Amino acid sequence: QTLDANANVRVEITGKVALVTLNRDLALNALSSALMQELIAKMQQLEARRDIGCFVITGNRRVFCAGADIKEMHSKSCQQMISEDYFSPWEQFSAIKTPKIAAVCGYALGGGCELAMMCDLIYAGESAVFAQPEINLGVIPGIGGTQRLTRSIGKAKAMDLILTGRHMAAREAEQAGLVARVFADESLLEEALFAAQSISEKGRLSVRFAKEAIVQSMELPLSQGLLFERRVFHSLFAGEEQLEGMAAFIEKRRPDFA
Ligand code: HXC
Repeated sequence: QTLDANANVRVEITGKVALVTLNRDLALNALSSALMQELIAKMQQLEARRDIGCFVITGNRRVFCAGADIKEMHSKSCQQMISEDYFSPWEQFSAIKTPKIAAVCGYALGGGCELAMMCDLIYAGESAVFAQPEINLGVIPGIGGTQRLTRSIGKAKAMDLILTGRHMAAREAEQAGLVARVFADESLLEEALFAAQSISEKGRLSVRFAKEAIVQSMELPLSQGLLFERRVFHSLFAGEEQLEGMAAFIEKRRPDFA
């Protein structure tokens, strides 16, 4: 199924997986307000259908996303920025509960790197390049870069990247823990879709709870995080997924969480 082939964002659905492709090639997929609104609206619509188990967000072979739209931003005043609460709608993208995989080839710069980090996991092609180059524009990351990158790869590397604006290649990003796995560019999408399909076949509730528990590990002290995890674990014994998963193991068959 293909929707809106000429839009800023293309969506193709295969089974329970939605492939979301940034499609603003002439501006290297820069995140204009229009693109942002379209992306968020489409993903919210898909989430509301309740039959999508995982998203894959991607760009093209040359560029994942070159960041916030500098041309749209450059003449705004401080007052406009504050009154519009510029970038705040991205919180709605983060809040999408269905797992989101970023499949990154080529440039993921500024808001592009931040978009990838707002996804739940990042797979990269060998050509992927990550950077927070906002310092070269006289600003700082504005869609979570100082916070998510630091939590993801630690203070030393986050400082290095954000203060110098330098590029970080896929392998370094993998070693640093930003990227879960690196693939050859030509197999990246296939691998990301394969993982997405695998996730979409698990129990919907257990996937959501696992994701929420991992997200809480970034927010909570360890003792509270461990308690959150244990209580969520307990609560899964009230649902059908635990019954089916454990019965399938004992009966030596594949679980069916459909
Ligand atoms: C608007 C952009 C853009 C962007 C590229 N373009 N990036 N337009 N916003 N972020 C446009 C160019 O102006 C150009 O348009 C066309 O896309 C092709 O780009 P080129 O620069 O000609 O391509 P190339 O020489 O191959 O260089 C690729 C590139 C470079 C290295 C990715 O475009 C680049 O450095 N882009 C900016 C990356 C960046 O600084 N991102 C952070 C943005 S700030 P024309 O019309 O000339 O053909 C951000 C966070 C915001 O994301 C937080 C602050 C508040």
